[in-house]
Amino acid sequence: MKKAVKISDSVYWVGALDYNLRNFHGIAAPEGGTYNSYLILNEEIFLIDTVKHEFFKEHLERISSVINPSEIDYVISNHSEIDHSGSIQEILKIANKAKLVTTEKGKKYLSKIFNSEFSFLTVKDNDEIKNLKFIEAPMLHWPETMMTYMKNENILFSCDLFGAQIADSRIFADLIPNVMSYVKRYYAFIFRPFAYAVLNGLKKLEGLNINIIAPSHGPVWRTQAQIKDLINAYAKWSVNPEKEKAVVLYAGIWGATRKIAEAIADGLSSLNIEVKIYDLTNLTLIQWSDLMADLMEAKAIAIGSNTLIGQMFPTVKTALQLLKYINPKEKIGLVFGSYGWVGGAVKAIENELKNMGLNLIDSIEIQFNPNENEIEKCFKLGEELAKKVKEV
Ligand code: FEO
Repeated sequence: MKKAVKISDSVYWVGALDYNLRNFHGIAAPEGGTYNSYLILNEEIFLIDTVKHEFFKEHLERISSVINPSEIDYVISNHSEIDHSGSIQEILKIANKAKLVTTEKGKKYLSKIFNSEFSFLTVKDNDEIKNLKFIEAPMLHWPETMMTYMKNENILFSCDLFGAQIADSRIFADLIPNVMSYVKRYYAFIFRPFAYAVLNGLKKLEGLNINIIAPSHGPVWRTQAQIKDLINAYAKWSVNPEKEKAVVLYAGIWGATRKIAEAIADGLSSLNIEVKIYDLTNLTLIQWSDLMADLMEAKAIAIGSNTLIGQMFPTVKTALQLLKYINPKEKIGLVFGSYGWVGGAVKAIENELKNMGLNLIDSIEIQFNPNENEIEKCFKLGEELAKKVKEV
């Protein structure tokens, strides 16, 4: 039997650990993930969110280790995506007197997702039930999302906000090594595209006393130092995530583009810029996830491709799509490439980067194999890019 984990005087974690999860919304989850749900034994009994459908048995066992599940008075749906709502129908069959609490949009979404009517109780921003206050959080990360704040114990049930993906039965963030690396990877994919909404959400949280942050994925945060670091990291990543760092990414077939990429990286490193290099011809899922987080933090991005049938390499196109998600207009770009009888990839990449608002330095496109002079030129372009990074 799976057991609940007590996280405060009256709150229990009753979620599920998905040790086999490896791909979550395109984010690599090399150490699995969690679907968090919380049971609150207050004047009445509340369940905050449920779990992905296939984990219902585990979820029910954890709830049953504390109470008889039929006693639940309210199921609160902070978010209707099925990693959290997937067991709502099952739990409401057992807790058949319970109301389903959600926003007006949440009601619409849940009705459509399950093609079913529930006994809804809709709430708006700042509405309260007993000691629970609801905070609408549009685009964090769906339009209907809300957070729930427990006033008597200062616990923020933050939904996807402040989440991470790792399956670790120790549950608490202060017990998990390198926990911020999981948070960063998750933020880059899920929240950087909605940075404006994160800032709106953080504003709403100002002035709240928060003793515990209990998100819908990953560890529960209970130390003031970690909570402060977490909120500060979200604020920084949402406004100005860039640091003195460059990402060089490229794809090619016969090694010419790789030589150019490495010369540019050498030029960058010669001025002590942190450089990450990605060969996009054969990336694993975890490398794509790391790339997303690195792109977010890099002030300079150098992107290269050989010309393949008159176009850029397909995985370079994918990388550009990821770059677009994270709003890169404060970054400085350099485009490079190689070609056989006719070019084209460099121009195509330049156009995409200009449309994203990057500030570009002069590109370089080299026919066949770069010679020594051309390698030197690439090194100098790397240096030029590094100088621009240091100027700002
Ligand atoms: Fe974890 Fe947006 O669902």
